[in-house]
Amino acid sequence: MNILAIESSCDETAAAVVRDGRTVLSSVIASQVEEHRLYGGVVPEIASRRHAEAIVPVVSQALKQASMTLNDIDAIAVTYAPGLIGALLVGVNFAKGLSMATGIPLIPTHHLRSHIASNYISNQELKPPFLCLVVSGGHSHIVMVEDYTKMKIIGRTRDDAAGEAFDKAARTMGMPYPGGIMLDKVAEDGDPHAFKLPRPVVHDAPYDFSFSGLKTAVINLIHNTAQKGGEVNKADVCASFRYAVVNCLSANFLKAAEDLNVNRLVIAGGVSANSLLRRTLEEECLRRGWQFFKPDKSLCGDNAAMVGSQGYYEYLSGNTADANLNAFATMSIENIHA
Ligand code: KG4
Ligand code: ZN
Repeated sequence: MNILAIESSCDETAAAVVRDGRTVLSSVIASQVEEHRLYGGVVPEIASRRHAEAIVPVVSQALKQASMTLNDIDAIAVTYAPGLIGALLVGVNFAKGLSMATGIPLIPTHHLRSHIASNYISNQELKPPFLCLVVSGGHSHIVMVEDYTKMKIIGRTRDDAAGEAFDKAARTMGMPYPGGIMLDKVAEDGDPHAFKLPRPVVHDAPYDFSFSGLKTAVINLIHNTAQKGGEVNKADVCASFRYAVVNCLSANFLKAAEDLNVNRLVIAGGVSANSLLRRTLEEECLRRGWQFFKPDKSLCGDNAAMVGSQGYYEYLSGNTADANLNAFATMSIENIHA
């Protein structure tokens, strides 16, 4: 089954053709990041306009790269939640129009479920059930993936998402948006024990995260040093901050796996590209004799290949939509509805 997939939830316009949920025949991503960088973050109005400009060429390119026409496509999967509403609407309306004009079935796809599915492409042998740490710019969840379309949230952030905390800390150090990637690189040359940063815990919710206190602590550290006329060693700050965030993420994730008796662990989302997070979980799982899966770095960020993968499993479970499909800025990964 060939699925044409479309993604426009944030600042990447993407399209892909994916066969049977696992084989990527083409994948095209038009990133707007350079433009949003001027403003230090995504400007929703600009994002919607750029999606409107890019969607036709990006979809055409994806079909061309796969050496296909719409006649070869069996279904159209589109991200309909969660994300920036104006951005999502561009992809959803385009997909609806295409589906109505051609009669090709339409599959609504949840963005975070798609991030998880990036692992089905990178790890062909991976099948549910497993426990997944989904860490992106907008979300930080520990999710029990009982089946391809059956999920239960075990833990979540109470305030900032991990990616958001990385980006804000990086911004304070003058790194361009989205700073998480650069912070990760700079951290490689620093001492993770140079600065003592807090490890916030959420009482009575051992699997939940809280990153806002940690983010404030690192921002204060930088500002206080600057006020005294000094300058912190950036590599050391990056390394200490990254170490603290990864500690919090991996400690709760490993504890949840132990308590739930699950020994197949998976990571997904933009922050799953973080080198220390990947190394730490790889080592911890190896030590325990557990399985550990991660997406290729090229599939960690927003793309449409992952949408084509999850879309396949949504289709198999009977999740299709008609011309009434709408977009939603928020939606739980557990209870999706079209
Ligand atoms: O999943 P994603 O591409 O978009 C959302 O759905 O939010 O995640 C983007 C987030 C950004 O906050 C970015 O800074 C972060 O992922 N990120 C990283 C790394 N690469 C991307 N954070 C830490 N280390 C990285 N290597
Ligand atoms: Zn994403």
